[in-house]
Amino acid sequence: MGLRDDVAKVLIPEDALQARIVELAGEINAAYTDEDRPLLVCVLKGAFMFLADLTRHLEIRHEIDFMETSSYGAGTVSSGVVRILLDLERNIEGRHVLIVEDIIDTGRTLDYITRNLRTRNPASLRICTLLSKPARRVIDIPIDFVGFEIPDEFVVGYGLDYAEIYRNLPFIGVLEEEVYR
Ligand code: IMP
Ligand code: MG
Repeated sequence: MGLRDDVAKVLIPEDALQARIVELAGEINAAYTDEDRPLLVCVLKGAFMFLADLTRHLEIRHEIDFMETSSYGAGTVSSGVVRILLDLERNIEGRHVLIVEDIIDTGRTLDYITRNLRTRNPASLRICTLLSKPARRVIDIPIDFVGFEIPDEFVVGYGLDYAEIYRNLPFIGVLEEEVYR
């Protein structure tokens, strides 16, 4: 039994993901100048693969940094409690910051992160997320760049996990019911 046997359906195939990421990178290239030298803040762990592919299509000068927040643990329901597990290396005062996130679900994590980062006085703060589940939003988050809006289903792959597994799948998929039991 391999990982892929646990996948009930592929929601976004690899080629569609990659094609959309090229488009997103184009939007980001157009939104910043070389002088802006934006700092891409990758929210770990889920956004690691997205950042890696996105950054390879960027033509503007930019830097990357990482942040990790607590998320769901082993379950699939948000606790609403957000903690910073790993903070940025760089001072972002006066910098153009672009948060790179895997998925916005309730919006609680991004709400916390944006409020936290704003207190550090960045020159600008924008959000790029690969996925968004608008039906689940509890806190409204203005998103500047969004890859795909998806239905209210728990998804894995392309960086996203269930109980820390399935991050390596190159597509976005939904697991078989029995995996959650
Ligand atoms: P939010 O705080 O409810 O917006 O959730 C944000 C975080 O929860 C994301 O960054 C993910 O790490 C995780 N998450 C939300 N929905 C999913 C999902 O469908 N699959 C995997 N992780 C998810
Ligand atoms: Mg995340």
